[in-house]
Amino acid sequence: MFHDFSDLAQAFLWWRGRSSSDTVQRVENGDSCVKQRTMVQAKTWTLRKHFDGFPKDSDFELLVEQLPEPKDGEVLLEAVFLSVDPYMRPYSRVRMKEGDVMIGAQVAKVIQSKNPSYPVGSHVIAKHGWRTHTISDGTGLTIVLSEWPQDGCKVVGCAGTDAKVSYLKDLGFDHAFNYKTVSSLEEALRAASPDGYDCYFENVGGPFSSAALPQMKQFGRIAVCGGISLYNDTTPQCGPYVHLDMIFKQLKMEGFLVGRWQHKDHESLLRLLTWMKEAS
Ligand SMILES: NC(=O)c1ccc[n+]([C@@H]2O[C@H](COP(=O)([O-])OP(=O)(O)OC[C@H]3O[C@@H](n4cnc5c(N)ncnc54)[C@H](OP(=O)(O)O)[C@@H]3O)[C@@H](O)[C@H]2O)c1
Repeated sequence: MFHDFSDLAQAFLWWRGRSSSDTVQRVENGDSCVKQRTMVQAKTWTLRKHFDGFPKDSDFELLVEQLPEPKDGEVLLEAVFLSVDPYMRPYSRVRMKEGDVMIGAQVAKVIQSKNPSYPVGSHVIAKHGWRTHTISDGTGLTIVLSEWPQDGCKVVGCAGTDAKVSYLKDLGFDHAFNYKTVSSLEEALRAASPDGYDCYFENVGGPFSSAALPQMKQFGRIAVCGGISLYNDTTPQCGPYVHLDMIFKQLKMEGFLVGRWQHKDHESLLRLLTWMKEAS
């Protein structure tokens, strides 16, 4: 999920107040870009220490980096939303070393451009991690599409607060419930769709998954996107296991990582947009 950058900006200010001298020292000792003529200071959240159990404030450090002016073919991006995502928890351990800028996508606005494909004022999705400003040569940027339709597929959703449930209904979910306050997850799922489910977009894993699988229809399909209920475990959780539902309902379950189809992002967004318009 993308988080409004204004909250993070407050956090940046707080961190600057706490560690300004350290930050300045690190920047002066940093790479050669500080010697170039600078236009913008980028603030970056770095991983100070690998997470142990639940992430803590002290695992992060705010640093400041001087950026040069964009060259021909480059743009200067300013982050509007940063993604603070569950996958960062397990990925940080295998993809990052201490001292790296936190990984992740951001929605950014182009504020200077020497690349005609990305005019000033356009918005892009960029994988530049937790940084306020970035110079990019355009590689890997996806222009944000406008005119998303208001209506879509028939869906059941749930969330952990009543405010989020209300938001799901505003978005057009046909049924939505608070999984933390319902007396029975099984009953809430059954009441929302008495005939069962053709598709289940799995983001949670664990007990939620155990409640959902028995309610799949024959030949149901499960896209395993995430298992957030498992990420902070220090000892693995036990089943119920999936096999009997998989066999007798002849289910298809496939895990995926979003990067598998990254090269088709633009084409996929246009196709999804068309399908949603057709369905509305
Ligand atoms: N496969 C991929 O390529 C890929 C890419 C991106 C994300 N993901 C996965 O997609 C899922 C959602 O990511 P996101 O970016 O939307 O995250 P997000 O915005 O941070 O939302 C995560 C939400 O999960 C809920 N949650 C946390 N612990 C839970 C638990 N034990 N049981 C049930 N719900 C729980 C919380 O919502 P409530 O407060 O409402 O409970 C939390 O806000 C994650 O599992 C993530 O790992 C996968």
